[in-house]
Amino acid sequence: MRKVSNQTIFPLKVYKWSVDNWEEKKQKLLDIVDFSKEKEDSPNAFSDFHDTVGKPSYFDKWYEILRDDLSSAFEEPVSIWQDKSNPGFNLQYAEKDTWTLWTQRYRKGQSHPVHNHGVGFISAVLYLEFDYKEHFPTKLYSPYPDTFSGCFGTHMPNAQEGDIFVFPSILLHESPFHMSDKPKTIQAFNVPLTFSDSGLVSPRDEMYKSHV
Ligand SMILES: [Fe+2]
Repeated sequence: MRKVSNQTIFPLKVYKWSVDNWEEKKQKLLDIVDFSKEKEDSPNAFSDFHDTVGKPSYFDKWYEILRDDLSSAFEEPVSIWQDKSNPGFNLQYAEKDTWTLWTQRYRKGQSHPVHNHGVGFISAVLYLEFDYKEHFPTKLYSPYPDTFSGCFGTHMPNAQEGDIFVFPSILLHESPFHMSDKPKTIQAFNVPLTFSDSGLVSPRDEMYKSHV
């Protein structure tokens, strides 16, 4: 009998975790955002991204509220995050003063069309006001089509309020049309990836090490 080997190539990882002491932090996170420019009957969702280009005045307060929840993932990231899917680079997460952050709130009929956040970041969504029984989470699209049908697969995380969902910034994603009378509010942030102090490692060495 012929022995046939196989392997899965082009792996893609996404991550999710829950913020501790959520109810206490939820109110603090809502209090620091200025929603005064929100127009509930607008076809467009509220977003403070364009006012500050992702550098809101509340960033430091926001980070302080979530410090423990973020530091466990972004300040000691290597063992948790690094995998064999990207041989050749020793990557680390850039200092928080390079992060960008914005808040969006969706009312009935509003949505955010398909887009990505560019190359070189880890992107994250914190579900700040989110009823998992009524609301759609972020919808992500596969970066490559199904090899038979040509269709692009989609994925919606099983998110609950207080969860942080993280994905590669290059992935296309959208916020589907909001169908609920309850608002959905999220905070999105981008964490740049940089080379670590040890710089580049040899792609060939890493590929040999990880080759199955
Ligand atoms: Fe986005």
